[in-house]
Amino acid sequence: MQIAVVFHSGYGHTARQAHAVAEGVEQSGHAKALIVDVARDIPWDALQASAGMIFGCPTYMGGPSAVFKTFMEASSSRWMKQEWADKLAAGFTTSSSQSGDKLNTLVSLAIFAAQHGMLWVSTGLMPGNNVSTGSVGDINRLGSWIGAMAQANFDQGPDIAPPASDLQTARLLGQRVASTARRFAGP
Ligand SMILES: Cc1cc2nc3c(=O)[nH]c(=O)nc-3n(C[C@H](O)[C@H](O)[C@H](O)COP(=O)(O)O)c2cc1C
Repeated sequence: MQIAVVFHSGYGHTARQAHAVAEGVEQSGHAKALIVDVARDIPWDALQASAGMIFGCPTYMGGPSAVFKTFMEASSSRWMKQEWADKLAAGFTTSSSQSGDKLNTLVSLAIFAAQHGMLWVSTGLMPGNNVSTGSVGDINRLGSWIGAMAQANFDQGPDIAPPASDLQTARLLGQRVASTARRFAGP
């Protein structure tokens, strides 16, 4: 079974998040990860062969990056025939501000998946860093349920940002989608 991690990254931060999601898919032991950078040629047949797709892009100007929007619109010929219906879907995004309006990006990705008739998988994670003993090292430190969020300081390169906690949150999303796909595949 294959799960596609379909992403855009302008400056490498979301690419790190995407690779962490893919690691989670593989660590699950249930699926292989196919990493697809939408700035390159898109392997549409391989996407079609995937049990699920995990969409990710940076938050630019409060929404999905234009390059990822181009991919979304390019998928409309698949939408016409509902070719991705009943596949699993999930989402992730990185931005530099703690909020940065990342939620709007994830909502856009969820609506995109819904228009394709896909089945959205949440993070399934309790929020971190919301008690006095919490820290930025907590899993899901940005407290998102609809998808995985990461925050990358804009004066730090992707070798440093986003931090390990956000990358682990991304891995757990990949694991959850792969485990859910395994359950959907039946005995
Ligand atoms: C055109 C543009 C718009 C941006 N808009 C936002 C924004 O709305 N909110 C935010 O928190 N950060 C914003 N940022 C910062 C990026 O989200 C942040 O640098 C992120 O790490 C970039 O991810 P990438 O390296 O994968 O491209 C913006 C950056 C650019 C270049």
